[in-house]
Amino acid sequence: MSRTVKSVGIIGTGRYLPERVLTNYDLERIVDTSDEWIRTRTGISERRISDADTATSDLATAAALKAMKNAGVTAGEIDAIIVATATPDMAFPSTACIVQSNLDAEKAFAFDVQAACTGFIYGLSIGEKFISTGDAKTVLVIGSETLTKICNWEDRNTCVLFGDGAGAAILREVECGEGILASLLGAEGWKGKFLTLPAGGSRMPASIETVKGGKHFIHMDGGEVYKFAVGVMPAATLKVVEKAGLTLEDIDFIVPHQANKRIVESAAKRLKIGNERIFMNLTRYGNMSSASIPVALDEALEQGLIKKGDNVVLVGFGAGLTWGSCVINWSR
Ligand code: UT7
Repeated sequence: MSRTVKSVGIIGTGRYLPERVLTNYDLERIVDTSDEWIRTRTGISERRISDADTATSDLATAAALKAMKNAGVTAGEIDAIIVATATPDMAFPSTACIVQSNLDAEKAFAFDVQAACTGFIYGLSIGEKFISTGDAKTVLVIGSETLTKICNWEDRNTCVLFGDGAGAAILREVECGEGILASLLGAEGWKGKFLTLPAGGSRMPASIETVKGGKHFIHMDGGEVYKFAVGVMPAATLKVVEKAGLTLEDIDFIVPHQANKRIVESAAKRLKIGNERIFMNLTRYGNMSSASIPVALDEALEQGLIKKGDNVVLVGFGAGLTWGSCVINWSR
């Protein structure tokens, strides 16, 4: 029996950022760095940091509640919960199942997606498929991270870059021709070694040696990730716009992954997109991995930068190495 493919859009968003702020000046007292270096090389001035007893699911639940309120959706209506995260509460149960329990979303199925900073776009694309095929009506997609818990506070190459936060979106069927017009996902697994958290899995189970060796922290070859990012961000944008049957002139606004101001500006330059059409909030939050795009999207909506009928591109890259992009015709 053939199924009718439905159009799927975002009908509500929400975000949650921990209150505690860690500035570049605070970092100057922790590692050999300076506000000037961090701002000029990355664009970041401060980031949010969660308390010792706060986990990724706590941020995710708070963001989800706001998105549900914004969308006018109750927990009982949610059919699926997808949490994109590289910093789950624990290996299992999934963070999505913990969020389900927190929300009392009894009928939902729930699972995590691990595509690092691209995770929210992977989650959106998966959620869209459940609704477009008729297998779900309402899907909650969350990007949530507590990256400051896996930062090596003695490694100035990485600890200045990351922050904690969560963003959420509710997906539902929308009018035909509105909502997600196209999405593209990609991975270059052979470049995975450039951004890893080596220990704690089956390759290198946790031991006293792995802890002593700092193997439970982020390890990154920043230069290689940078090269990947400046190539893939414009390429993924162009490809998905073309897939949607549009041109760059039809795109009203871009919400990119918020890793580094220089990466975003380089993408904007290559695409010949003015700064007023590309969103940046990384100066206040740093890189929040899978939470960066949904938090940025929620802020852009709140600031009235995205209006009904606008064509919006979400584009990101991250560990894996992964990349993803989508075009959304804004339906609210
Ligand atoms: O979401 C995906 C996650 N990752 C990324 O997006 C990261 C992508 N990469 C980047 O954003 C940039 O490569 C970084 C911001 C990580 C680094 O910027 P860079 O301009 O590529 O600097 P670099 O690594 O080439 O380092 C230049 C110098 C080095 O000193 P020497 O060897 O030239 O003496 C570093 O040791 O800057 C030094 N350095 C710092 N100095 C002060 C590195 N980190 C710091 C620091 N403060 N925090």
